[in-house]
Amino acid sequence: MHQMKTKHRSFLSFLCFIIVSLVFALSDCAVSSGDHFVYHGFAGVNLTLDGNALVTPDGLLELTNDTVNLGHAFYPTPLSFNTQQRPNGTVRSFSVSFVFAILSVHADISADGMAFFVAPTKNLSNTWAQYIGLLNSGNDGNTSNHMFAVELDTTQNDEFKDIDNNHVGINIDSLTSLRAHHTGYYGGDDSGSFSNLTLISGKAMQVWADYHGETTQIEVRLAPAGAAKPARPLLSAVCNLSAVLVSDKSYIGFSATTGAISTRHCVLGWSFAMDGPAPAIDLSKLPELPRLGPKPRSKVLEITLPIATGLFVLAVGLVVVLLAYRRLRYKEVKEDWEVDFGPHRFSFKDLFHATGGFRKKNLLGVGGFGQVYKGVLPESRAEVAVKRVSHESRQGMKEFIAEVVSIGRLRHRNIVPLLGYCRREGELLLVYDYMSNGSLAQHLYSEGGQQPALGSWAQRFRIVKGVAAGLLYLHEKWEKVVVHRDIKPSNVLLDSEMNGRIGDFGLSRLYDHGTDPQTTHMVGTMGYLAPELVRSGKASPSTDVFAFGVLLLEITCAQRPVLRQQQQQHTLMDWVLEHWQNGLLAETVDPSLRKDYNLDEACLALKLGLLCSHPFVSARPTMRQVMQYLEGDAAIPELTPTHFSFTMQALTRQDEGFESPSSMLDPPLLTTSMGTFSSLSGGR
Ligand SMILES: Nc1ncnc2c1ncn2[C@@H]1O[C@H](COP(=O)(O)OP(=O)(O)OP(=O)(O)O)[C@@H](O)[C@H]1O
Ligand SMILES: *[C@@H]1O[C@H](CO)[C@@H](O)[C@H](O)[C@H]1NC(C)=O
Ligand SMILES: *[C@@H]1O[C@H](CO)[C@@H](O)[C@H](O)[C@H]1NC(C)=O
Ligand SMILES: *[C@@H]1O[C@H](CO)[C@@H](O)[C@H](O)[C@H]1NC(C)=O
Ligand SMILES: *[C@@H]1O[C@H](CO)[C@@H](O)[C@H](O)[C@H]1NC(C)=O
Ligand SMILES: *[C@@H]1O[C@H](CO)[C@@H](O)[C@H](O)[C@H]1NC(C)=O
Ligand SMILES: *[C@@H]1O[C@H](CO)[C@@H](O)[C@H](O)[C@H]1NC(C)=O
Ligand SMILES: *[C@@H]1O[C@H](CO)[C@@H](O)[C@H](O)[C@H]1NC(C)=O
Ligand SMILES: [Mg+2]
Repeated sequence: MHQMKTKHRSFLSFLCFIIVSLVFALSDCAVSSGDHFVYHGFAGVNLTLDGNALVTPDGLLELTNDTVNLGHAFYPTPLSFNTQQRPNGTVRSFSVSFVFAILSVHADISADGMAFFVAPTKNLSNTWAQYIGLLNSGNDGNTSNHMFAVELDTTQNDEFKDIDNNHVGINIDSLTSLRAHHTGYYGGDDSGSFSNLTLISGKAMQVWADYHGETTQIEVRLAPAGAAKPARPLLSAVCNLSAVLVSDKSYIGFSATTGAISTRHCVLGWSFAMDGPAPAIDLSKLPELPRLGPKPRSKVLEITLPIATGLFVLAVGLVVVLLAYRRLRYKEVKEDWEVDFGPHRFSFKDLFHATGGFRKKNLLGVGGFGQVYKGVLPESRAEVAVKRVSHESRQGMKEFIAEVVSIGRLRHRNIVPLLGYCRREGELLLVYDYMSNGSLAQHLYSEGGQQPALGSWAQRFRIVKGVAAGLLYLHEKWEKVVVHRDIKPSNVLLDSEMNGRIGDFGLSRLYDHGTDPQTTHMVGTMGYLAPELVRSGKASPSTDVFAFGVLLLEITCAQRPVLRQQQQQHTLMDWVLEHWQNGLLAETVDPSLRKDYNLDEACLALKLGLLCSHPFVSARPTMRQVMQYLEGDAAIPELTPTHFSFTMQALTRQDEGFESPSSMLDPPLLTTSMGTFSSLSGGR
């Protein structure tokens, strides 16, 4: 039991030892034990301070900081320099080292100075400002002061026989130095020659002062902070301190006074040892020195700072401009209701990049409403045609977009898919699948005497059938009636397999099966407008049939719907009719086919074309019937040119003030001639 207790106790003391060792190991800024210590900064260090001395939060010991100041800092416990019993004991060897800096407000005017001292008391309240805080005029030079000091003197006082205002001295009991030397050190370079230093330079310097007890040799060295301890001392004196430090209790510390000049006397680190060299001070652990006044600007900063600032401002400006440009460039109009059309809405940025910024190179063509650009969508890599339609008002935009989007759901092999849209201020962009073979118009009319690309009749007839199938789908086979309103060769596009596909749906109108189309402002292209459409503005499937009839004649004859002959304007229809009357119907077929065509099919196309573009709505077939005629599933009614002859009469009598009888079929005014159309002032 007793043994257990002892064991327990010894374990406890072992624990204490461990803790104490740990504490010592951790507090490496203040290693002090017995008669040696080293302080790297003085944060938390027990110093006895008086006067203006203070330790900054950073751990810097500031002995003075202001005008007419005096400060002392003591190691708190007294040290025993004198080994033997008083009197006539001998003073042991000791060694002190410290890093200091003197920061003067004015770079080249000196203040009093500072000193390391050994004194018999901590009560230096009787000292005066101009005596470095060590002595006063009454006791200066009195051997009963028992004081040893190393002074760093920045003022030349004649009464103390100072050599200059920048010297280091060894002082015993007096401000008059036993030995003094201009501040500097030996061994600055390899030759070991003397290098000057300036105490008030504000730069940190290190002092080593060593007393050798046996030889009574005092050596003082100085070096810029960071330099090694010089081999050759700056000051060396033989002085038996046994007669000076007679007390067995002496205090060590620092003292400083400022003259009339605001000066900070700072100590950064301090080490001391009895009977051995002072521990080395690790410069990297010392606190930072404060700055006095504005930090001197380095040359590098002076040049680079304005440049960097300029660059920064430039960069910020550039970013702002770029952002603003981006905003403007890609600005769109987006309204809440458009959320419903999500996938059909394209971002303008995508379309902008797809078309290479709407570059001229990508321009496919220019129509009545705007330009069409070829593009490749950034994500899907799909080839598209983007049509930019300029529009003024936003009125009816919601309905219009709704129609565009619902038309986007049309899927037929003879319809150019409408992929979606994008809206900007005053501009609407419609996105279609790209048709690699362009429009029928490009193939139909030879440009510059070139052979038209649409060589064979069979190819043309196939395209005719395709367009008819597409129109039939629009009129009857989809959930709503779609009136295209602008059937013409430039809106018939040819895909990679030369299939005719109806394109350009931006202007189409939808309405429910079995209802009357609403009157809207007229759209379409001169020459393809049914007479009743010109009058009433009401588009209907029949008006599409009319335009299809014109297209049919155009494809067969390779002639534009309005001809100019000897300053007279003819419609293509009248021209074909005239030939038919004269028994020369086959003469109207495109001569570039070189009679290499199916005569029956060509005649069918011509007659069907005439029938479709009949001025009387009721005389026109439906697209279903047209398909049957073209496929040969039904025979086209027997027709003679006289069936259409009233057209000619209407044309000729109009100038004589002819009014058609109201008993006639649907349209009371029968006009297909260009004369009436041109009075619409061009339309587009
Ligand atoms: N989806 C497409 N794929 C390839 N080329 C196209 C496509 N859409 C239009 N184009 C080309 O762009 C040209 C211009 O088309 P746009 O529709 O603007 O004018 P238009 O058809 O001549 O007149 P309108 O304004 O009456 O439609 C067309 O002639 C055609 O060559
Ligand atoms: C100077 O030291 C005194 C204390 O002695 C202190 O109150 C004062 O703030 C210090 N001044 C500066 C500028 O550090
Ligand atoms: C500082 O040291 C002195 C003298 O050893 C002692 O009296 C005092 O209590 C110490 N102060 C602190 C805060 O440790
Ligand atoms: C101490 O030394 C002085 C001379 O240095 C001598 O006069 C004196 O007698 C000595 N005193 C003792 C006690 O040894
Ligand atoms: C220094 O003085 C003491 C006492 O006065 C004496 O004992 C000692 O021998 C002296 N040392 C030297 C080197 O003279
Ligand atoms: C310090 O010494 C002076 C005399 O020099 C005395 O008046 C004062 O009381 C002393 N102060 C302390 C704290 O002992
Ligand atoms: C030296 O100081 C002591 C005590 O302060 C004093 O008694 C003595 O007279 C002084 N000596 C001189 C020469 O002033
Ligand atoms: C050092 O300073 C002294 C006094 O100002 C001057 O005479 C001497 O030439 C200087 N030495 C060097 C090496 O600058
Ligand atoms: Mg078009």
